[in-house]
Amino acid sequence: YDYDLLVVGSANADLVIGVERRPGAGETVLGSDLALHPGGKGANQAVAAARLGARTGLLARVGDDAHGRLLLDSQRAAGVDTAGVLVGGAPTGVALITVDPSGDNSIVVSPGANGRLTPADVHAASALLAASRVVSAQLEIPLETVVEVVRSLPSGTRFVLNPSPPRELPEEVLAACDPLIVNEHEARVVLGADVGDTPEQWAQALLALGPRSVVVTLGEEGALVADSLGTARVPSVKVNAVDTTGAGDSFTAALAWRLGAGESLADSAAYAARVGAVAVTREGAQASFPTAEEVAAL
Ligand code: RIB
Ligand code: NA
Repeated sequence: YDYDLLVVGSANADLVIGVERRPGAGETVLGSDLALHPGGKGANQAVAAARLGARTGLLARVGDDAHGRLLLDSQRAAGVDTAGVLVGGAPTGVALITVDPSGDNSIVVSPGANGRLTPADVHAASALLAASRVVSAQLEIPLETVVEVVRSLPSGTRFVLNPSPPRELPEEVLAACDPLIVNEHEARVVLGADVGDTPEQWAQALLALGPRSVVVTLGEEGALVADSLGTARVPSVKVNAVDTTGAGDSFTAALAWRLGAGESLADSAAYAARVGAVAVTREGAQASFPTAEEVAAL
């Protein structure tokens, strides 16, 4: 394989403002100076994996504009192969992000060019898919594009999905996931029904929908991994959170990379939890992702 991980997904310019508290409807609040960071769940995953040392490619679409160049620069600086990054068709996606003093964020995404990453683009990139040990995706690109990824996967290539932002998923996509990675909110939306209040219950109900494995991320509580062999809790590392933006993306990327290297689901998730723990201690998304040395030092 040429790639340990090919990420198919979004690339956004993150416009970030720190706030004391989020405004309600009809309300105005003053915030910090504006920060502009490269982001997007797909671009974030690719940078996170490459920074850890994975040979990584990104299949995405950005606009022919300054935001698009910012995103391409950050991918290249991290060592991501950008042969699969298409340019043009619409302006680069933008994420409007507020971060509160506890490090929690609220995000509104305008997909822009991400919405123009089509099934035909995936088809045209079949050589990249064939060159990848693991392929990961999220849902800031059209669902039919993710469906085409699943249909185009060579046998033996592992597929990892973080359904964010969440929606109900076709059987064909669910059946391909190994694992499906969700937080509580995403679990509830993908399930589309109330199946109880524990991560164990969500994981069992999600497994029944067809994925070969499931990971439920639990923030400070770590994660729960589940497959046909059983379920296991994976601890997290206690850290002082500054900005959680993109931490989930770094978790998914690290997990996908370790799985591709042949580690067990539980060991991969434990490693990924350490990667995410470092990421929340620093500002921004991509800028906060650690190297393998920094993870080892945690
Ligand atoms: O997961 C974090 C990301 O979500 C941000 O970088 C933002 O672009 C949105 O896609
Ligand atoms: Na961060």
